[in-house]
Amino acid sequence: VSDIPVITIDGPTASGKGTLADEIAHKLGYAVLDSGALYRAAGLAASRAGIDLDDGKEVAAVARALDLRFAQGRVYLAGEDISDALRLETSGQNASRVAAHPPVRRALNQLQLDFRRAPGLVADGRDMGTDVFPDAGLKVFLTASAATRAERRHKQLIAKGISANIESLRADLEARDARDKNRSASPLHPAQDALMLDNSAQTIEESVELVLDWWARRRPFKVSR
Ligand code: CDP
Ligand code: CDP
Repeated sequence: VSDIPVITIDGPTASGKGTLADEIAHKLGYAVLDSGALYRAAGLAASRAGIDLDDGKEVAAVARALDLRFAQGRVYLAGEDISDALRLETSGQNASRVAAHPPVRRALNQLQLDFRRAPGLVADGRDMGTDVFPDAGLKVFLTASAATRAERRHKQLIAKGISANIESLRADLEARDARDKNRSASPLHPAQDALMLDNSAQTIEESVELVLDWWARRRPFKVSR
């Protein structure tokens, strides 16, 4: 049990979790945990080691030995900057495969708890509010329509000079969501006490304002804006 405040943001792929988490953390001076990056890194490390991603025991051994460092928005694996490789959709699909194994989740959960440091943490992922930080002071379940999410991913790729087909992006993200929702280990679903936010028609700034407002109502004496 910890009295360090946590805000969790869970939801399907490309709903805007990471962007919202970064903005909220920045405004509040809190640390941020991109838990998806841990699953992506575990998937990358395992596939580089030639391990079968459906072998939970083997992947868990890799997850336990992960030498990861986060600095200035970049992710380093044994000193190598793997940030760009992690953003590829193949990394997302591989992450979703390794994330289905309970021993892999157990290995990564321990790392995630270590991110909880004063003055507070904003954590985004799939099970932040349901499993990893069940005592979070505010739990947001962020959604957007599949069409909106595919469009957003498409724009992100185009901005990086990567061409992509919007229909196949949508199929990929729907397949990944289905796997994340239907697995037995920590499936994607809103915590009972989560506040639902569909941001399909919202700008990032509007979502940030709303969530800061929710937080201020819960912790009026802690938030200065
Ligand atoms: O972390 P997650 O996969 O949920 O999504 P993200 O990477 O934070 O957001 C995906 C893209 O949607 C980013 O390029 C955001 O800038 C964009 N976005 C948006 O255009 N409007 C919003 N209201 C939220 C996100
Ligand atoms: O950014 P996006 O929403 O596309 O993905 P992500 O948050 O980086 O997560 C990649 C994959 O890791 C997800 O599809 C999940 O299968 C898995 N994941 C998970 O199981 N639990 C988490 N807390 C975070 C991610």
